[in-house]
Amino acid sequence: MTFNDIDFNSKTILITGGAGFIGSNLAFYFQNNFPMAKVVVVDCFRSGEIFSNGNLKSFGHFKNLLGFKGIVISGDINDKKLLKNLKLNYKFDYIFHQAAISDTTVSEQDLMIKTNVNAYEDLLKIAINHKANMIYASSAATYGDSDRFEVGYERANNAYGFSKVMMDNITYEYLKKDLDISIVGLKYFNVYGPKEFYKNKTASMVVQFAHQILKGLTPKLFEGSDKILRDFIYIEDVIQANIKACNPKQSGIYNVGTGKARSFEDIVNILQKELEIDKGKEYIPNPFIGAYQFFTEANIESTKENLGYKPRYEMEDGIKSYIPEIKRLFKEEVK
Ligand SMILES: NC(=O)c1ccc[n+]([C@@H]2O[C@H](COP(=O)([O-])OP(=O)(O)OC[C@H]3O[C@@H](n4cnc5c(N)ncnc54)[C@H](O)[C@@H]3O)[C@@H](O)[C@H]2O)c1
Repeated sequence: MTFNDIDFNSKTILITGGAGFIGSNLAFYFQNNFPMAKVVVVDCFRSGEIFSNGNLKSFGHFKNLLGFKGIVISGDINDKKLLKNLKLNYKFDYIFHQAAISDTTVSEQDLMIKTNVNAYEDLLKIAINHKANMIYASSAATYGDSDRFEVGYERANNAYGFSKVMMDNITYEYLKKDLDISIVGLKYFNVYGPKEFYKNKTASMVVQFAHQILKGLTPKLFEGSDKILRDFIYIEDVIQANIKACNPKQSGIYNVGTGKARSFEDIVNILQKELEIDKGKEYIPNPFIGAYQFFTEANIESTKENLGYKPRYEMEDGIKSYIPEIKRLFKEEVK
């Protein structure tokens, strides 16, 4: 299924972070719908190195790209030489910039800002040079402690959220110039769906709860989880937003969510019903209080109006579509 009339078959497309969750889904969207498109994936892939929080420094995994027929480049977006080669060796029509330190609990601020903020500006310069449209991943984490989930009301409460606010600020600066490309920032809310599994502990709670349930364990929720609400969005709706962001003359920053907050408790209830296993629920203290969002709900009015975006998946639908992949992963990957 395609989301607009653009024929990407003759286009050259760069996907940074293309071995990650959202980037690899984008890569296959183009491969499946526009087999003649030239798709270039750049990702640093996982090295085994970890941050001080114990999580991997990057989550890119070759298994997300099994069957991919495009070009794969292993490289770091902080590497100026790599960027120079990308600029000289290709002529991109679209850049989907997904590469980032995507782990919201990382405390190494230096690398976070360098990777998420400074490398974004470098890539934006390539986009301008190539006359390529830039579509980049911002985040709902920019709202942090805000109680208004509308562009302009950001209040980041961790280094990750801050880095995404800085990306948006760079965008506003560049949009003041008279550019002949469009720049679209998409503030994804909590994304779940196929190809997120290799994000380990930072994958959505949908897949994590599902695998706890399939193991026969009682799913562990933070205390008060019936009152912790987030806007959970299925990957296909995120792909829809990215593709609709390619329509010309739509520069700006937009929320990408369902517009409807749901609780972590809801996720477990739906999974227990779909998997037909119910061992109750266990409650544990929340270790992230202070840098944690207890409520998010995207205001998607301007995304609907300007991008023609329309989310198609309620949480019940998204989880239902995801169940076969959750079961396959459990059989083949979960030890
Ligand atoms: N998944 C979500 O719920 C969500 C929500 C809001 C925003 N985002 C943003 O969307 C984008 C994609 O997220 P994702 O969920 O697919 O995460 P992900 O970690 O699966 O994907 C990011 C990819 O970037 C790569 N990467 C990291 N540092 C790199 C570097 N220095 N050079 C080259 N590649 C590098 C990683 O290897 C990984 O494959 C990120 O920018 C993330 O911040 C995600």
